[in-house]
Amino acid sequence: MGRQEVEGGTTTIFATPHVYTNADFAKSDSFVERVCELQEAFDAEEVGLKIAQGAEVFPMMEIIDALDAGHPISLGGKKKHILLDLPLGQSPMILDKLTFELLAAGVTPILAHPERTAPVQESLEVLIPFLERGVLCQVNAGSLFGKYGPQAQKRGHEILSMQWAAFLASDKHRPSSKGPMLRYGKSQLVGLPGEYLEEITVRNPGLVLAGKSVPQIDYDILKVPKEKKFLGIFKRRS
Ligand SMILES: [Fe+2]
Repeated sequence: MGRQEVEGGTTTIFATPHVYTNADFAKSDSFVERVCELQEAFDAEEVGLKIAQGAEVFPMMEIIDALDAGHPISLGGKKKHILLDLPLGQSPMILDKLTFELLAAGVTPILAHPERTAPVQESLEVLIPFLERGVLCQVNAGSLFGKYGPQAQKRGHEILSMQWAAFLASDKHRPSSKGPMLRYGKSQLVGLPGEYLEEITVRNPGLVLAGKSVPQIDYDILKVPKEKKFLGIFKRRS
């Protein structure tokens, strides 16, 4: 899998094991060591890939205490960004409160693959309040070529067309016969400015790795336009 990713042009991977319950916070303490072991194995095999620590965490209020307690669940271990695993069905009731409290604590939540979730598939507008308050979004590369069905594919393209996503990620779980997904995903985005593709695949992940803030998108128009008018409606801060 490491070799596939290198072939696809990836230089660094955030390893993001799932953290689903309160009990998993204690287990996450082993992530740092496991990441080191994997890095050593890659280095020994001359796979030119850097592994960074992380987790994909189910939204629960206990995250705040877990971060305070030093459990290594933030991306890059910097306590600056946390990847929230959105369930595919309804969003958890606490998502609003949790994102507010994380932001107040100086931790930026990143919503994992919103295009795959029922509320976003129903209406893109549900993302707006989160984006407005500074929550970031990550789209799965696999969504763009239909790996998760037509609706996720459509929403993935729309979110990227409006430049709402701050990250494009492979979300890879195992070696795939489909090859390196990030490169495949990028190849699906021919209409988008190269500068934006660079931001979501290189610059923004690099900022997260360094524990720095990702520049916020400037949303001039906060209503989702009618379905056919997605392109070119949203202006970005230069
Ligand atoms: Fe996920």
